[in-house]
Amino acid sequence: MSSGGAGRDLSKLIARPFSHDTLSADASARVLLLAPPGDLQLPDGLTNDLLAVQGFRPDYLKLTQHGLNVVPDSAEIANDGSFDIVIVCLSRHRRWNEQMLSTAARVCAEGGTIVAAGGKTDGAGAIRKALSRLTDDLQSLPKHHGIVMWLRVDNAVRTALIAAFHPEEEPSAAGFVTAPGGFSAERVDAGSALLAQHLPSDLDGAVADFCAGWGYLSAAALKRCPALASLDLFEADWASLEAAKRNLTGTRAIIAYHWRDLAHEPVEGRFDTIVMNPPFHTGRAAEPALGAAIIERAASCLKPGGRLFLVANRQLPYEGVIDRRFATARLLAETPIYKVIEAARPVAARQ
Ligand SMILES: C[S@@+](CC[C@H](N)C(=O)[O-])C[C@H]1O[C@@H](n2cnc3c(N)ncnc32)[C@H](O)[C@@H]1O
Repeated sequence: MSSGGAGRDLSKLIARPFSHDTLSADASARVLLLAPPGDLQLPDGLTNDLLAVQGFRPDYLKLTQHGLNVVPDSAEIANDGSFDIVIVCLSRHRRWNEQMLSTAARVCAEGGTIVAAGGKTDGAGAIRKALSRLTDDLQSLPKHHGIVMWLRVDNAVRTALIAAFHPEEEPSAAGFVTAPGGFSAERVDAGSALLAQHLPSDLDGAVADFCAGWGYLSAAALKRCPALASLDLFEADWASLEAAKRNLTGTRAIIAYHWRDLAHEPVEGRFDTIVMNPPFHTGRAAEPALGAAIIERAASCLKPGGRLFLVANRQLPYEGVIDRRFATARLLAETPIYKVIEAARPVAARQ
């Protein structure tokens, strides 16, 4: 799940209890960071023995470039309660926040501290309320639009947090497994459903699903196109890609999964067809440049006669990049909200 570039505010929030000496970390403290944005700056003293879990590839890449030890999935952390401090960077997705807190409770040492921080509009207020019901030991400091809170972990707190926040059932949509905090975690996206209806039924050759999420468009293409024999899924969110693997297990095609930041990383392979519903924001504000960069990437890795099938919100200005990078384009469908476009015969990028 993307952080939306919230690093500066979160850095200040997390620093507060440490700068007030309310919390301290000795040099040997083991610190775990859950879901940190790529530009998070930690207070001195917290970075000696640090592990971060970040499954959103653009943030993961930034953190590793800063020399941090990062894994994409909290399942890779041993359940041995060996972290003295676990810092949870809250997001606006309740289920995701709860899953992170349940993980924090699982891996934090007896006597260790869980710190959680986030914007008030990101559900930090609701999390503070929920935590204060579970322990009398919760402390918090507000700052501007955010809250940082912390609590000591003993067995009673650990058990209470895991019982309260461990998800009873996996998120799902239309019978598919989805990812908490990922795109369309509770229902099939209406834009993707519209694109699926307009995919030709004769797709074959090498097909790629760009920004594949939990695999809805891949599953739809496989159902609609009996000749489709190979499918490559590219997605930045680790948990969504893991869900896609489960959703597509046992299908007849040869399938490959790629955890990639399509805006910044190269793609191996050349494709006859690419299907996509590109992202247009990582935070709250629209970022059409992100979708445009991924359309550029698609143009660069299609074969000469290749085709791109794309759905987007109508107001997103993708026509410029499509006109520049494809010899032909046509509108396949339009609703008050969405447009479905077929662009064909990519042309080289001008230098
Ligand atoms: C609009 S959703 C479409 C998901 C899926 N195709 C569907 O139809 O349900 C866009 C997807 O792009 C992913 N994404 C965001 N930034 C990305 C990037 N830089 N590279 C690759 N995928 C990205 C998001 O995680 C999200 O799953």
